[in-house]
Amino acid sequence: MDVRQALERRVSIRAFRPDPVSRETVVDILSTARRAPSGGNFQPWRVFVLAGSELARFTDIVVQRFEAGIAEPPEYQFYPKGVGEPYRTRRREAGDTRYAAMGSKTPTPEILRELQLRNCRFFGAPVGLIFCIDRRLDRAQWADMGIYLQSVMLLAADHGLDTCPQGFWTNWHETIAAFFSLPPELMVYCGMSLGYRDPADPLCVTSTARADLAEFAEIRGF
Ligand SMILES: Cc1cc2nc3c(=O)[nH]c(=O)nc-3n(C[C@H](O)[C@H](O)[C@H](O)COP(=O)(O)O)c2cc1C
Repeated sequence: MDVRQALERRVSIRAFRPDPVSRETVVDILSTARRAPSGGNFQPWRVFVLAGSELARFTDIVVQRFEAGIAEPPEYQFYPKGVGEPYRTRRREAGDTRYAAMGSKTPTPEILRELQLRNCRFFGAPVGLIFCIDRRLDRAQWADMGIYLQSVMLLAADHGLDTCPQGFWTNWHETIAAFFSLPPELMVYCGMSLGYRDPADPLCVTSTARADLAEFAEIRGF
């Protein structure tokens, strides 16, 4: 698979089959992604990987806390408060495709709860990843993290695997910190589901639009 094919194949998948992914495959993906560039070669990424009984133990804790109505304070605001256009509409449209796949025109409390629960379970994926960053680092290093994340997702695609990045996990920093005994300098950047898609589930693939090139690029001098 070439880079273009991997880019075109990668979409956020929100329904996985339980088929396992081998440790070797995960190691190959995470270690090949190390070639991602970073300013000053900081390599700011830290990754915690869960599978099998450890994944079940972790997600059971999170689901239990979610069901008990516990809300942990997120360490950072994932979406800026009161963000205007075009972001508001883009976010709403992306959400609408999910609600439609779940049989609803609007985000009813039941649909939102179901989506949260699916996030809690890494959408049924056999591997869950938590990406952390040293809280002393700043915006440039957060961008480096994004490059690493995309590298992981493209390499997963190359293995015939699917992914869903999950900012959702920023809501569970306390649980994650306790589960992994995170050193105080580490904070959760986001999580990711990894596995094989389940096309039988209507939520599996929800296609999202992209703005035209002319809306975000200015090209001169050719
Ligand atoms: C950093 C990051 C965090 C995300 N967090 C979530 C999440 O918590 N839950 C979710 O269902 N999708 C999440 N997404 C997926 C986005 O909704 C998705 O990338 C976007 O709608 C574009 O769709 P596509 O990935 O299918 O191309 C996240 C994506 C990124 C890059």
